[in-house]
Amino acid sequence: MNVLERQIIQQLNPYIKTYFSAVLLYFVPFYLSLVQSFQPYQTSIPNGYNVPHPCKLNYMWRGVGHQVPKGGGERNQFGIDFSNAGKSWTVDFCQKDSDGDGKTNGEELGDPQCKWKVGELPERTTNITHPGICEPLDSEQCMNETQFVSCDSKQFLCDALHEPAIRGMKNTTIKFPEIKILNEETQYYCMYFNFPMDGDYHMVANQPFIDNKNVLHHILLFGCDQPVTEEPNKPWRCGMGSYKCFSLLGIWAVGMAGECMHNLTGFRIGYRGYTTGMIQVHYNNPDKRDDFTDSSGLTIHYTPNRRQYDSRVLMLGQMYLEIPNGKNEYQVIGECTPECRRQMKVEHIRNGTFLEDIAVDEVYSYDSPVQHQYVLKPYIP
Ligand SMILES: *[C@@H]1O[C@H](CO)[C@@H](O)[C@H](O)[C@H]1NC(C)=O
Ligand SMILES: *[C@@H]1O[C@H](CO)[C@@H](O)[C@H](O)[C@H]1NC(C)=O
Ligand SMILES: *[C@@H]1O[C@H](CO)[C@@H](O)[C@H](O)[C@H]1NC(C)=O
Ligand SMILES: *[C@@H]1O[C@H](CO)[C@@H](O)[C@H](O)[C@H]1NC(C)=O
Ligand SMILES: *[C@@H]1O[C@H](CO)[C@@H](O)[C@H](O)[C@H]1NC(C)=O
Repeated sequence: MNVLERQIIQQLNPYIKTYFSAVLLYFVPFYLSLVQSFQPYQTSIPNGYNVPHPCKLNYMWRGVGHQVPKGGGERNQFGIDFSNAGKSWTVDFCQKDSDGDGKTNGEELGDPQCKWKVGELPERTTNITHPGICEPLDSEQCMNETQFVSCDSKQFLCDALHEPAIRGMKNTTIKFPEIKILNEETQYYCMYFNFPMDGDYHMVANQPFIDNKNVLHHILLFGCDQPVTEEPNKPWRCGMGSYKCFSLLGIWAVGMAGECMHNLTGFRIGYRGYTTGMIQVHYNNPDKRDDFTDSSGLTIHYTPNRRQYDSRVLMLGQMYLEIPNGKNEYQVIGECTPECRRQMKVEHIRNGTFLEDIAVDEVYSYDSPVQHQYVLKPYIP
């Protein structure tokens, strides 16, 4: 198929705690790429991937030593002190209170006793605060120091949402009725729902509808490929499988403002596309609190003004293990050495010839996934 030769790749990092990668291919003829900065120093400090933004919902501050969350540019005081410490986690640097808020860098990063070494698990991986940003932000003591911090929520830029209503852009929010979060560290809930059936639509964008930011980890939206007889809009406790719905159509993870499809594509929903979908939400409740509830979901934007191409998703990765016939016991061992850095790479090879790298993630963290969007070079035989 000719269209196949020209692709947008949207690569997102795994939602399964192993070396697993999911790649979305949207078939479109253009070339663009969004370059992501990459932070080589995150492994040099405890919980380096795990430092939250001080005022944005579920948002990680990846460039911990910098004044902008994605890293690069001016350093903050923590970054300056890190550099002076020879870019390593020395006891002095750990005991220092770089941002002057009364907590040492070690206390902020989960290594209060300054014992952590590269590759080890820090004493604490929750209750992490930013070592380069004086908190509370609005206290008199911190006000002058934290002007580089922007608390505005990330804007969702998507042209489709500005299409005049006369062209038929619609939205609907798929969310759970209020459910009780159990006092367990990790849990998944799923719910089948029906897509709008009054037309032949393309779904072109989605945005999170966040109710309880304390526990929400990520949300997946699937299109169902098999008949669903279960009652819609009734959440049930599930695992991370996709049940009768194998097509990933949307995703929200910490730090994302929404997803906007390339303007030549859309996922087909309605009477000529997916009629039933499933939403799956992963909750993280590390303190095992039992007083949380949630009613989160996704708002989807769809239009009868369909785009040129239907989108499809290709997922790559280790999705299952094959257990040989007739064995009572079969062991599979995965090993990750302390020095091991999780990496992922996807190459584009056609008929034995390497064409290009589609995605190269030198460092991957489960809790702060990155998303890349590309259109590959057109294929010229
Ligand atoms: C959270 O971290 C601070 C230090 O940054 C510590 O004083 C406090 O006890 C911690 N709270 C919990 C619940 O671990
Ligand atoms: C903050 O800056 C203002 C103006 O520069 C100054 O008057 C004030 O004393 C500073 N406050 C602190 C706590 O440093
Ligand atoms: C959904 O559509 C309604 C009606 O057109 C509009 O008022 C509302 O702003 C839309 N919601 C979002 C999240 O865009
Ligand atoms: C689609 O997006 C491209 C940029 O990626 C833009 O040049 C083009 O005008 C857009 N087309 C439509 C129909 O909006
Ligand atoms: C694949 O490569 C072989 C050997 O180089 C060549 O003969 C064949 O035509 C190629 N097939 C396609 C579909 O390009």
